[in-house]
Amino acid sequence: MKPTLETERLVLRPQAESDTVELIAMSMDPEVMQFVGDGAMTLQESEELTLETLEMEGPLGRWIVTERETGLLLGWVVLTHLDDSEDIEVGYGFKVPAWGRGFATEATRRLLRHGFDDLGLPEIVAVSRPENIASHRVLEKAGLRRRGLRDAFGLRDLFYFAARADALVAS
Ligand SMILES: CC(C)(COP(=O)(O)OP(=O)(O)OC[C@H]1O[C@@H](n2cnc3c(N)ncnc32)[C@H](O)[C@@H]1OP(=O)(O)O)[C@@H](O)C(=O)NCCC(=O)NCCS
Repeated sequence: MKPTLETERLVLRPQAESDTVELIAMSMDPEVMQFVGDGAMTLQESEELTLETLEMEGPLGRWIVTERETGLLLGWVVLTHLDDSEDIEVGYGFKVPAWGRGFATEATRRLLRHGFDDLGLPEIVAVSRPENIASHRVLEKAGLRRRGLRDAFGLRDLFYFAARADALVAS
């Protein structure tokens, strides 16, 4: 069971069935999905993904990010295997009206701390489309560093980022 994680403004909790409609709408939104996978998903793809992440048991998976003050769903963050590699990646997506307020960075920092301190992961990585500048900023602000390029999810030359537990503690 994944624990609920808190920050100053946010609550990160395990995905629930009641999140389904909002999560499906997010992965069908062309703006949210502009730099993700093949872009906006169909209803069926979106339903499948939402069910898959709802059913992910164990310590990895998706956390729903809500605003502490209002309880509103702002977005999600995820810790999962990068493709079928041993590497654990961090990922995120937020609703468009929630962009630009530092929420993704705040949630990502908290999830990294959970991954390193509670799960004992030695390293957390991320990949991002070269043109996804906002995402690069989130990763850098959260303490990940560019390590060059990496192919993943059938895409070539994604920007590759990583943070090691010992380096992050020291920084
Ligand atoms: C990427 C995303 C999560 C960022 O969320 P957010 O809550 O707005 O992020 P933050 O506010 O924490 O930080 C965003 C940073 O990017 C910067 N930024 C945003 N758009 C930018 C742009 N077009 N060019 C340069 N910088 C940009 C912001 O200024 C901010 O940096 P700053 O704090 O140094 O000013 C959000 O845009 C999103 O959900 N995008 C769609 C899903 C996605 O692409 N996920 C990542 C897949 S790899």
